[in-house]
Amino acid sequence: MPRVVLGVCGGIAAYKAVEVCRRLVDAGVHVAPILTDDAQRFVGALTFSALASEPARTSLFDGPDPIPHTTLGQNADLIVVAPATAKLLGKYAAGISDDLLTATLLATRAPVLVCPAMHTEMWEHAAVQDNLATLRRRGVHVLDPEEGRLAGGDVGAGRLADPARITDAVLGLLTGNRSLAGRTVVVTAGGTREALDPVRYLGNRSSGKMGHALANVAARLGAHVVLVTTANLPAASGVEVVRVDSAQEMHDAVMARSAQADVLIMAAAVADFRPKAPSTQKIKKADGVPEFVLEPTTDILAALGRAKRPGQVVVGFAAETERLREHAAAKLESKRVDLMVANDVSALDAGFEVDTNRAWLLGADGSADETALISKEELARLVLERVVRLLVGPADGPSI
Ligand code: CTP
Repeated sequence: MPRVVLGVCGGIAAYKAVEVCRRLVDAGVHVAPILTDDAQRFVGALTFSALASEPARTSLFDGPDPIPHTTLGQNADLIVVAPATAKLLGKYAAGISDDLLTATLLATRAPVLVCPAMHTEMWEHAAVQDNLATLRRRGVHVLDPEEGRLAGGDVGAGRLADPARITDAVLGLLTGNRSLAGRTVVVTAGGTREALDPVRYLGNRSSGKMGHALANVAARLGAHVVLVTTANLPAASGVEVVRVDSAQEMHDAVMARSAQADVLIMAAAVADFRPKAPSTQKIKKADGVPEFVLEPTTDILAALGRAKRPGQVVVGFAAETERLREHAAAKLESKRVDLMVANDVSALDAGFEVDTNRAWLLGADGSADETALISKEELARLVLERVVRLLVGPADGPSI
């Protein structure tokens, strides 16, 4: 039975750690909770003691074990801190061990997952972001907070990741298939925005959900993932997120990383055209109906296909509204990709904005398989299963 230390800090989201504890126990994990002093202002240690696999601990000095931090740290297969406050991240990054949780974090060689939760201003503060960058550099996994309602009725980034996602991330780190370990995967997501003036843009209906699902699943499979995205969606722990807006920014971000990538997946809906001369000032209604001349953007996928080195796998998406296979097969060939994921974006239950998808997977080897209507996460798994086979050869490709 894997052993997980669940660290709980003092924040309003501490109540959600109760749910994480229960879910992990239900999944067959031995959970040893540690609560900081501040955590106990929000939830009682008794609640965790009742649900966890052993009594919750709150102090370096109050139990029968004279050195609880080393016992807990050495025996853990993983430590998860949820919620992780700005104070915890600061102390952990600085190597300060002044309570049981921080001492245990320093007394372990097990993987560590931190799940920050705090107010938006604190989350965006340079001190917090610098501490997270330090921790990431040391190999600590970070499950970024989500956007949503915060304490006091405010809305913004900083809400603790959903307990189900935290549990998934823990289980993925503990037991996951690591078939993409050591590989660098670059994924694009979302729809690009092409400026008409400083406040308006030409855009499309891509939500970014498919690309984010691909990035999250690839990270769970052990890849180093760079997600170049226009979407403001959460990303799994360990995913390096590069936010972009326009097709040109996406092009530059992808090209800068393409040489190091083992796998490149263009799930983004990239604008084919952009206004040739966007206005530098806001266009005024009184000036009459504006006319725009458009110019083509660079086709990023085609550029990746042309520059592809041996062993590198390039995956494209084809969003079609008619003659799906025929159009997608033409793109597969003209853009020289290894795998094309084609979906009918005119269907109500697949494509843009929804959580499900149904796709054709067309391979450069001539293979063509249609999936059922499945979640975008499930489709991501199927796509990455193909990718792994392309990387290692058909005989050795494991089923994900
Ligand atoms: N793509 C790209 N750069 C562009 C346009 C598209 O990298 N400037 C990529 C998309 O990310 C996707 C694939 O090309 O992986 C196919 O995109 P799609 O819009 O379906 O095809 P287009 O080549 O733009 O053709 P059309 O719009 O005429 O269907």
